[in-house]
Amino acid sequence: MKHIANFIASLSLFINVYSQSPAVITVKANQPIAPIQSTMWGIFFEDINFAADGGIYAELVKNRSFEFYKSLMGWREDSSSRYSNNSRSGYTTIINRSKDNPSNPRFARINVLADRGYGLTNEGFRGMGIKKGVTYHFSMLASQHDGSNAIVRVELKDSKGNIIGNAVVKPSGKEWKKYSAEITSTATEQKGSMTVWFEGKGTLDIDMVSLFPGDTWKNRPGGLRADLVQLLADIKPGFIRFPGGCIVEGHELTTRYQWKKTVGKVEEREMIINRWNREFDHRPAPDYFQSFGLGFFEYFQLSEDVGAEPLPILNCGMACQFNSAELVPLDELDPYIQDALDLIEFANGGTNTKWGKLRADMGHPAPFNLKMMGVGNEQWGPQYVDRYKIFAKAIHEKYPDIKLISSVGPFASGELFGFLDKEMREMKADILDEHYYMPPDFFLSNAKRYDNYDRNGPKIFAGEYASHIRGTEGVKRNTWQAALSEAAFMTGLERNADVVYMCSYAPLFSHVDAWQWAPDLIWFDNLNSYGTPNYYVQKLFSVNKGTHVVPVLLNNEAITGQDSLYATACIDKNTNELIVKIVNVSSVGKSREFLIEGVKKLNKKAAMTVLKSDNPGQLNSSDNPQAVAPVETVIDIPGRKLKLDIAASSVTVLKVKM
Ligand code: AHR
Repeated sequence: MKHIANFIASLSLFINVYSQSPAVITVKANQPIAPIQSTMWGIFFEDINFAADGGIYAELVKNRSFEFYKSLMGWREDSSSRYSNNSRSGYTTIINRSKDNPSNPRFARINVLADRGYGLTNEGFRGMGIKKGVTYHFSMLASQHDGSNAIVRVELKDSKGNIIGNAVVKPSGKEWKKYSAEITSTATEQKGSMTVWFEGKGTLDIDMVSLFPGDTWKNRPGGLRADLVQLLADIKPGFIRFPGGCIVEGHELTTRYQWKKTVGKVEEREMIINRWNREFDHRPAPDYFQSFGLGFFEYFQLSEDVGAEPLPILNCGMACQFNSAELVPLDELDPYIQDALDLIEFANGGTNTKWGKLRADMGHPAPFNLKMMGVGNEQWGPQYVDRYKIFAKAIHEKYPDIKLISSVGPFASGELFGFLDKEMREMKADILDEHYYMPPDFFLSNAKRYDNYDRNGPKIFAGEYASHIRGTEGVKRNTWQAALSEAAFMTGLERNADVVYMCSYAPLFSHVDAWQWAPDLIWFDNLNSYGTPNYYVQKLFSVNKGTHVVPVLLNNEAITGQDSLYATACIDKNTNELIVKIVNVSSVGKSREFLIEGVKKLNKKAAMTVLKSDNPGQLNSSDNPQAVAPVETVIDIPGRKLKLDIAASSVTVLKVKM
């Protein structure tokens, strides 16, 4: 009897297990549903968290032209023991010549009283990152007064004040001239500084005091930090949206982004306060300004360098509605619209046009081939509709091929979103820019968000998104849990590539000592940088983009969270590859059968890349930048039927030649 009971028990266990054994996942490789735009996965650059000055723009001197509201912010008078005694060896006054030079009105007048020297030390952006063996280019504009014989000695220093490099320049003559020197550092320092000593006697005027590393991206003088650009290039972004964000709108209209003030000679670009300087009381950044050394020409050039479409966003006559909400009256919008039209000429116009000529003069005679532009950022309400209509009419009349990105407000749903979504669809807008900064649950439950969007309506730009989890100390962090939920959601973006044309995580960069907003895709200090788990999710999707979406189905349905799995599949018609992306958000690994239909044969080997962590709270950091990073292996493919072990809490990308 006991044996029979045992047999029945095992039989029922067997039947149970058998009936629960999961269905096969089918990929229909010969049934492309939609082309994937080359712009599908891009980058959103905003000058927040010291992303530009102190970040990707490699200038090491803060407040180089003395234009901060405290004119010597970032500078301090030095009294090194080498030179000190009790008497004053010099002093600085700040002269404003706004009549002669309205875009760069201030300069420093240095009065050197004693031969022993008077020094000004620049602290850099929370220190200066200096690398052993790298040559640094020092430069300054100077004008020597009659009878003055001041010379300039430049010293690079480590955090203890030891000199790790120096050079001398000897200004001569009254007219403003640029003086340069090269300094090779003898040590590496994360928080270095630069002291400029004035020796001799007399009066010297100085401006645009600058120090750049020689190892910038493509070794361009006055260029960008190579490590940060490389991280962007590695994503192979389809587009770069710039310069933001709220930075476009400004706290008030006077601090809006005006692209014309960011092009031409660097010393003629009018600096303004950065709107993030005073946005958050808990993260004040009084020394956050925009020098515009990274301006629109450089953004276009960066886009070209990394093979991305440029996507500038322009102010539409509205300041940030979370702040002053200032509006430009409708009958005074012309200069704003002219800025948009002129920008297209700057990017694409012949060198015989005013703005095309400026582009050529700046070193790029060939057009940048601009195809799209954003009108406003996170605007809302009828006031946006009124302004957008005027912009769209003017731009489309002159440039019918330029696609316009329009706002649907700062939120993913609700009244503001609903109103603009309806209005913009009625207007047959080109592309709607949706933003969602939401908790992980939102991302997990929204993998189907676009399944029912109108296929004939405007296309979608998921222009700013990030999964936000408040950490125990109140700071939102780039945890693996956040990144995994984004990956799950992104399968839904790719599955809907016939509607979703562009996507970008936000924000992009963050300085570890000077951030205002977290989480962010890439973190950096003065010397190093690293990608977050979210960065690797973005990268995995982007570098495995494919050209056409194909169905990947479980019980004939898209895989959008059943059994904690999310999936998307695509083929790459250029390389003849099948790419399957599977996200497992459960803490249990899964073994699943796959059937690849519609291919004659698959290669016997496939690349399998897995991004995973057992710890939902896992972060990457300067000390452990690859704590969560993709691991690539080659697996055997037995045939069109295969079994895959999908790791717990993982993103898996399978790539196989067909
Ligand atoms: O990415 C940070 C900010 O979030 C952007 O400036 C704005 O568009 C959004 O509110």
